[in-house]
Amino acid sequence: MALWDMAELRPEQIVRLEEDGPAVVLLDQRRLPDDVVEVRCTSAMDVADAIRTMVVRGAPAIGVAAAYGLALAALRGDDLAEAERVLASSRPTAVNLPWALAQMREEPTPERARVLHEDEVDRCRRMAAHAAELFEPGTRALTHCNAGGLATGGYGSAVGALRAAAERGLLERVLVDETRPLLQGARLTAWELEQADIPHAVIADSAAGSLMARGEVDLVVTGADRIAANGDTANKIGTYSLAVLAAHHEIPFYVVAPTSTVDRETRDGSEIPIEERDPAEVTSRFPARNPAFDVTPAALIAAIVTEHGVHRPPFSF
Ligand code: MRU
Repeated sequence: MALWDMAELRPEQIVRLEEDGPAVVLLDQRRLPDDVVEVRCTSAMDVADAIRTMVVRGAPAIGVAAAYGLALAALRGDDLAEAERVLASSRPTAVNLPWALAQMREEPTPERARVLHEDEVDRCRRMAAHAAELFEPGTRALTHCNAGGLATGGYGSAVGALRAAAERGLLERVLVDETRPLLQGARLTAWELEQADIPHAVIADSAAGSLMARGEVDLVVTGADRIAANGDTANKIGTYSLAVLAAHHEIPFYVVAPTSTVDRETRDGSEIPIEERDPAEVTSRFPARNPAFDVTPAALIAAIVTEHGVHRPPFSF
């Protein structure tokens, strides 16, 4: 069956390790939704490049890709410390990346990486069931970036919550922030919602405030790249602005993320490293800045949903 005929991508269609070769095979998220093509990475260095250039992106998915990358290095007999260093330095903000590599250190095998992948998808399904409790019949949700199966290796975190709410008949429709500059919302989230037959409409990022003011948004739900011990949450640039707007309009702002995204070593958001990407992603005609993430203070978050349940403030992880 063609990829684009499916209601939900299978985890191995998003990222997998082929031992015959061997190679880590990634669905190229830069080309979606127009082209459904794969990229074969035959070394840990290739996997690191694919993470850096966002062939694969989204916090749990880059952790899974890095885990397969380390298993690939082990299969090839490469220097594992060097492979881990290269993979760990590919992107700085999502804590899932160092978390996954640490999980692999004792046993850098394909089996271990596959279990880690399955566990991430399982966590998504459990989170989604908890998050669905936050929806009421007829909920009109707004989401940012892509926290779908593409971003988690299967099912999705924030999009998983939307899937579960839709299955329970609680979701009227989803407003999808375009998510400048790389359009993860307009390209990836809209595509996933279309496959899942969930009513949605893409909006320019700057339209969110006005649509909230018109009473068209009942809740905001996003994923996360790193959650500090106090609940401060890093996510795609623009998330903080949405949380401020939601607070102003008294709309609940929810974060849905697995515990692999929680960083107990980081006390608060000021300690989270924020990736600055190539300004050319914004414009090459004028000087530009391109911070890829921002931090939403815990005070603006109504609940953080993990696989363990719905956590309400004050947060303490
Ligand atoms: O730069 P990206 O596309 O990797 O950023 C991804 C996000 O910000 C997602 O919202 C986050 O990783 C949560 S994914 C379940």
